[in-house]
Amino acid sequence: MEKFYVTTPIYYVNDVPHIGHFYTSLAADALARYWRMRGRDVFLLTGTDENSQKNVEAAAKRGYDDVQAYIDMMSGRWFAIFRDLGITFDGFIRTTEERHRIGVEEFWRRVESTGDIYLGEYEGLYCAGCEAFITESDLTDGQCPVHRKEPQRIKEKNYFFRLSAYRERLLEHIDAHPEFIQPVSRRNEVRSYVERFMEDISISRETMKWGIPVPGDPTQVIYVWFDALINYLTGIGFGDDQERFGRYWPADVQLVGKDIIKFHCALWPAMLMSAGIPLPKKVFAHGFFTIDGEKISKSLGNAVDPQAAAERYGIDALRFFLLREITFGEDGDFSMDRLGERYANDLANELGNLSHRVLSMTAKYFAGKVPPATDGSLGPVWDRYDQAMADLRFGAALDAIWDLLRDSNRLIDAEQPWKLAKTDQERLAAVLYTLLERLRASAWMLRPLLPETAGKMRRQLGLSEEEFDREYEAARVWGGIAENATIAKSEPLFPRRDD
Ligand code: MSP
Repeated sequence: MEKFYVTTPIYYVNDVPHIGHFYTSLAADALARYWRMRGRDVFLLTGTDENSQKNVEAAAKRGYDDVQAYIDMMSGRWFAIFRDLGITFDGFIRTTEERHRIGVEEFWRRVESTGDIYLGEYEGLYCAGCEAFITESDLTDGQCPVHRKEPQRIKEKNYFFRLSAYRERLLEHIDAHPEFIQPVSRRNEVRSYVERFMEDISISRETMKWGIPVPGDPTQVIYVWFDALINYLTGIGFGDDQERFGRYWPADVQLVGKDIIKFHCALWPAMLMSAGIPLPKKVFAHGFFTIDGEKISKSLGNAVDPQAAAERYGIDALRFFLLREITFGEDGDFSMDRLGERYANDLANELGNLSHRVLSMTAKYFAGKVPPATDGSLGPVWDRYDQAMADLRFGAALDAIWDLLRDSNRLIDAEQPWKLAKTDQERLAAVLYTLLERLRASAWMLRPLLPETAGKMRRQLGLSEEEFDREYEAARVWGGIAENATIAKSEPLFPRRDD
């Protein structure tokens, strides 16, 4: 069986997830569900990045003496929140876990044995917000432009990774594999960074106490990014379950936000090359979004809680909004008002209403039974949808489905089944069969995107649970809705709201 391995970044636990974090995980979930539906052996990995100074500071701020206790509690919350929001992860890796430490040590030794680790002196600036060494030229008014904080000045003995030794190989790889970094604009950004700026980097810290000790030198801990990136390997068994590791690696898609692209497209592949491990097939960087036009920030207090948004409109409406309104790969804006509009128009009106009309007419004119099958075709919609999903164009996948739904609404208006009921029974049956069949196809295509809604549609169409266990290729064929099957009473998919 073909596999599909998809990863999300692992998240810092200095706070609970906001809508931006949920966004990355949602995209990974949609992909994972899609490839599961197509019969692949899927593994979706997510987790928490725990060896960060940020977490240590957050623990202190909240009055925890025991950093690990704070991190355990917070990691548990991230786990539960993602699970409750319907993210179907297969693995959850925590970087303070023993299995992770074992894999990181193994990885370090491999890189060391290639001669790519050397001892040096680091003198310069460090931004704890970025967890990265930065240069004077990165600063605005002496502050990190992202975190608006003065960086720490550091002078310490560190282990360095010979990153610059991989410049040529990396450029060759980027050029030979246009699919490696997506979208294209990001590829160009990374390429010029690798070509012009990529230097050796310090991969240990002398003054930090929290983290994984450097193998053979307990006076240093491993730099948090070097440790964190390895989660993508340890999360599937590197270092403790070689069989499982071999089954899933290399990753098919690694999803990241555009803020962390250099770590994933320069440092990470060079680390893998050094350790003699194949590179992931694709790293896809999505954009960032603002809330009502403003950057998500604690000081503005505008961080939207994904659970609150899901409680208000339902998880599927939130999923729809994020995947449809914001083009995947580009920046966008989140607004509760826009979410409300999408709910009323696209979901309640175009999808909910169509489903309700079709089911009620079937009840009324055919006593709730699917009329006799008629010939037909779904046209190119399913191909369009598959192509969009394979390219991570979630909005385009939804568009393909919505074109079918809108066309179905038009078909009802044009055919006027209530008139056909008096004049042409045969045509009425053909129209309704077509509409029911299109709803079945839509339910299928919606499974990875709006899983709850897809399930409701399946039940309303009188299809058993086994319907969704069928082979994907067979399900794509016209005529899956069985004639004479009993459809259920229509319950609104997206009840009207007063706000
Ligand atoms: N711990 C690192 C990642 C290590 S991966 C080896 C990290 N964590 S994070 O919690 O700060 O952010 C993780 C991801 O959340 C970002 O890369 C991005 O994907 C997502 N987002 C955070 N804020 C976001 C927005 N405002 N908009 C969209 N995505 C956002 O970085």
